[in-house]
Amino acid sequence: MAEFTLPKNSKITAGKHHPAKVGAKQVRKFKVYRWNPDDGANPRTDTYDVDVGSCGPMVLDALIKIKNEVDPTLTFRRSCREGICGSCAMNIDGSTNTLACTKSISECGSGEVKIYPLPHMPVVKDLVPDLTQFYAQYASIRLHKNLSEGPESGQGDRRNQEANAAATHALTP
Ligand code: FES
Repeated sequence: MAEFTLPKNSKITAGKHHPAKVGAKQVRKFKVYRWNPDDGANPRTDTYDVDVGSCGPMVLDALIKIKNEVDPTLTFRRSCREGICGSCAMNIDGSTNTLACTKSISECGSGEVKIYPLPHMPVVKDLVPDLTQFYAQYASIRLHKNLSEGPESGQGDRRNQEANAAATHALTP
C-alpha cells in the first residue's frame, strides 16, 4: 500500500491567542490562517477574540478591526468593501469561498469564525492568494461565440462582447 506524507512545512500548527480587551461585551472568536514566507515557520492559525459589538457587521470589518487594533501584521486584500472588486475573496467557515465584505458575522454560526485563504492557490502571505495562474487562465478564455464568428456577425456576437467586457471589468484587480 502506498503511503503519502505531507511536506513538513505544510502542516498547520496552533498559533497565538489574542484575548479581547477588558470590558468587551460581545466577544466572538476568529480563527485566522497565518503564514509568512519570510520566517521559515509552518503556517499557523491565530485566534482573536473580537468585540463584535464595537465593529461593523461583516467579516471584513472584524479583520480590519484586528489589523487596526490588535495585530498589524495580519495581511489580507480588500478594496471596494461593497462586493464588486472581488479582492477580499477568502474561505470563511470551512466550506464557503466568499467575499469577506458581504459575509455577515452573524451568518457564521455560533462557534469560531474560521478564515482561510482561497483554496487551490499558492499563498503569498496570510489570507492573500497568488492569483497569477488564475489571471493567466482567464486571459486564455474567450466565449465560444467570439471565437467562432467575426465581429460583424450580429446581435449574438455583440452580446458576447458585452459579456466579455463586463467579466473583464469585474475581474480586473
Ligand atoms: S472589498 Fe471589493 S469585493 Fe470585498
